[in-house]
Amino acid sequence: MVSNANHDHGMIESHPLEGTTYPPSAEFAASANINDPAVYWKAAEDPEAYWATQAKELHWHKPFTKTLDWSNPPFAKWFYDGEINVAYNCVDRHVEAGHGDRVAIHWEGEPGDTRKVTYEELLFEVKRAAVLLESLGVTAGDRVAIYMPMIPEAIVAMLAVVRLGAAHSVVFGGFSAESLRARIEDADAKLVITADGGYRKGKVSPLKPLVDEALALETGQKHNVKNVLVVKRGDNPVDMVADRDLWWHEEIAQVEAQHEAKGFNAENPLFILYTSGTTGKPKGILHTSGGYLTQAAYTHKNIFDLKPEVDVYWCTADIGWITGHSYLVYGPLANGATQVVYEGTPDTPDWGRWWSIIEKYGVTIFYTAPTAIRSFMKIGRQEVQKYDLSTIRVLGSVGEPINPEAWNWYHDVIGGGTAPIVDTWWQTETGAIMISPLPGLTSLKPGSAQVPIPGVTIDVVDDTGNHVGHGNGGLLVIQKPWPSMVRNIWGDPERFKETYWSQFGDQYFAGDGARLDDDGDIWLLGRVDDVMNVSGHRLSTAEIESALVGHTSVAESAVVGASDETTGQAVVAFVILKANQTELTEENAEAELKAHVAKHIGAIARPRQVFIVHELPKTRSGKIMRRLLRDAAEGRDIGDTTTLADTMVMQTISQRVRDERDAKK
Ligand code: PRX
Repeated sequence: MVSNANHDHGMIESHPLEGTTYPPSAEFAASANINDPAVYWKAAEDPEAYWATQAKELHWHKPFTKTLDWSNPPFAKWFYDGEINVAYNCVDRHVEAGHGDRVAIHWEGEPGDTRKVTYEELLFEVKRAAVLLESLGVTAGDRVAIYMPMIPEAIVAMLAVVRLGAAHSVVFGGFSAESLRARIEDADAKLVITADGGYRKGKVSPLKPLVDEALALETGQKHNVKNVLVVKRGDNPVDMVADRDLWWHEEIAQVEAQHEAKGFNAENPLFILYTSGTTGKPKGILHTSGGYLTQAAYTHKNIFDLKPEVDVYWCTADIGWITGHSYLVYGPLANGATQVVYEGTPDTPDWGRWWSIIEKYGVTIFYTAPTAIRSFMKIGRQEVQKYDLSTIRVLGSVGEPINPEAWNWYHDVIGGGTAPIVDTWWQTETGAIMISPLPGLTSLKPGSAQVPIPGVTIDVVDDTGNHVGHGNGGLLVIQKPWPSMVRNIWGDPERFKETYWSQFGDQYFAGDGARLDDDGDIWLLGRVDDVMNVSGHRLSTAEIESALVGHTSVAESAVVGASDETTGQAVVAFVILKANQTELTEENAEAELKAHVAKHIGAIARPRQVFIVHELPKTRSGKIMRRLLRDAAEGRDIGDTTTLADTMVMQTISQRVRDERDAKK
């Protein structure tokens, strides 16, 4: 059971702005994909039948006759006697339906180079890549690691893998060689697909050298990677290992685009995506085929109100995260959408880049994260107003609660005061959006994700699992299985059961706190466990602590997520150095330890601050009181410290934090 002590953990204060709601315009509602409120009760009456209807929108190689098997919770099976090919659904069927000329991807490289890929061209590329992978021995049931920049080949690679019935494990390009190796080992990948590098902030950020480093690491465990396929993007020099490494462009030129997509069981693994949990070891979240694609496609079409013939959709997420999987690859492509894919950062060459892309391609639906919106707010609206954003008709937000100020700015400055904002709550584990307004139906409340989507049942409960009632806060649970739900933690069913299903029986515990307002709308309040949310990315305190104590000079460490104006939360570390160490000095310790974390986990985990301290606040039983450290890191007065073994320690630590802040002023 979740303890009371956790209740204030990491929660972000958020209050409804009573009375401020934005109903859909009559015009928007009239043409919206969903505009009949009866959808909610119809779906609630028989959620399985509702999802079966949605699943039939896809092409099934063998139609399913069974919808859900929940006889062995928490291991769900959806549409499990059916056979499907996910890549066929994302590409072939659109070409067969006569939409081969439609642009699938308007790709924009950071340096300004562009590529336009139609569905027909995408099919050609995916077929060739599938033949190539097959020739390298990839077959149904295998895993392939993908470590790539945001280039069309990344999407082609993902689709080619799943076309063969194999599963991919995409590793975000910002992760270190060590993190990559751990993921390659855990998933037992036989092939790695990478690139020489990709453009970020005007420079080529190398990838292949990190793959070489990852595969050469002495970890005490063997890996089974036979080949590394390398896409040429950055034009930077790379070492090619004989008999192992192959250039993508050389190999692909030698194969024919002849490949028939076979059907695979609906529960065939589709991908593994690693995410941080409360321990040092990332969890391999396993998603399977039919249910995942059903919900990714359904939510993409209805929550963003997609009209594939006319809309130009853009999701700014990287393919290395779940948002990139569901709303840049599988959702939009299953729906035959035309979308923008951008390689680089929003501030290259200047902060107008995103808005220039929207103007250039006439983007109509735009999906991004609150942290990005807050960065643009800081820069000021004049950067945005240089561009014509009048094509935008729907905006989306994901990754963390969107504070009402950011909501209003997004609505006014980007959405012209008219585009609805869908604030979408979901997780790597849920696979697809679970809580969100429907833009043609819901009166929007800035700051609230509001209601579960049709077919999903969610509650906010107290520690004992009882509904909290309107006006109260508690823990978010998902009451019934849903099609795109996580099927397992790869190789660790016990951890799967323990993490999500041990608190409230057969209900899924999301790890988030939430509050129901007087109308019953849901307000997300942040994580209730030791997971941080930095720029919408999940990081584990335990993982960063273990990287820090891996440094030869570090004796002990405690990491907290402190609130940060731009990134939501930021990593703040408190470190005790070994008594006899001589390597680190007061002057160099912070920089060295930040670099150490970036090297071992990846740049995204680099702490904002590292404080060298002589003692950590511990209870008499030896448990570190992270709550007090967070108070100190956020500059709050330290409350009751009487349970600490050493009551002076927090005064010293708070003073250190204050001194640093004053020094920066
Ligand atoms: O705390 C919630 C927060 O992000 C967590 C999931 O992180 P991850 O698996 O990395 O997936 C992020 C993209 C789906 C959740 O447990 N979160 C995500 N979306 C929202 C959110 N918190 C509040 N509002 C949201 N819209």
